[in-house]
Amino acid sequence: MKITQFEVLDSTNSYIKRNYEKLDHFEVISTNHQTEGKGRLGRIWLDDGDSLLFSILIKNDIKMENISQLPLVVAMVIHDTLYPYIPDLLIKWPNDLVVHDKKLCGILIESISSHQEIHAVVVGIGINLSTQLFPESIKETATSFFLETNQSISSSLLIEEITSKLKIELKYLNQNKSQFVSYSKKHSFLLGKKISFIKDSKIMHGIAQDIKANGNLLVKTSHEQIEISTGEVHLIK
Ligand code: BTN
Repeated sequence: MKITQFEVLDSTNSYIKRNYEKLDHFEVISTNHQTEGKGRLGRIWLDDGDSLLFSILIKNDIKMENISQLPLVVAMVIHDTLYPYIPDLLIKWPNDLVVHDKKLCGILIESISSHQEIHAVVVGIGINLSTQLFPESIKETATSFFLETNQSISSSLLIEEITSKLKIELKYLNQNKSQFVSYSKKHSFLLGKKISFIKDSKIMHGIAQDIKANGNLLVKTSHEQIEISTGEVHLIK
């Protein structure tokens, strides 16, 4: 497995997108700091200096129809890796990992495409590892491996474990043998709970009911069932 470690990058995802032609399938780019870390939905990913920041390049073995399932597959792999240390870890659809609704890990999947053809996919992963004190703005909504376990963990071993598991899972996904639906249902933070979400620019409420085979979330509102494929979902307390 090829892992290249940087001290500072703008973003590991952006680096791979710029250089993917000369990088290998499943090559990993990791950095200690990001100056322009990217989150989902156009947000920024804050660098507190204590996070594991890396991206994996997938150049082959990716079928167009499987792209929508990838977020949950990646979440499953990371959950499976960290769960032995953090038994309360759950998957918050579509691809956050949370402990008691506090975010431990975020995943940003971007595809590199032209003319409707996907050339490669970048899986960006940010895991709060050794943070002890979060900035005021996110302290109620974020947690770290250290805060949950009182332990530290080897970054390189984590990267290796997650990347090699993802390689295997991708094979299963392509053979339609992935267990990601049952796995993410079993470890779901949202199922059975009241949630809010945005659909067609409207805020809607409902109960998270199921995760479908395509990775979509099925929500029951007061008068209909809605399938959502992406976006952000909030728990109503
Ligand atoms: C999210 O929860 O919004 C996704 C956050 C993803 C952050 C990681 S950190 C490594 C990789 N490089 C980036 O710029 N973003 C991802």
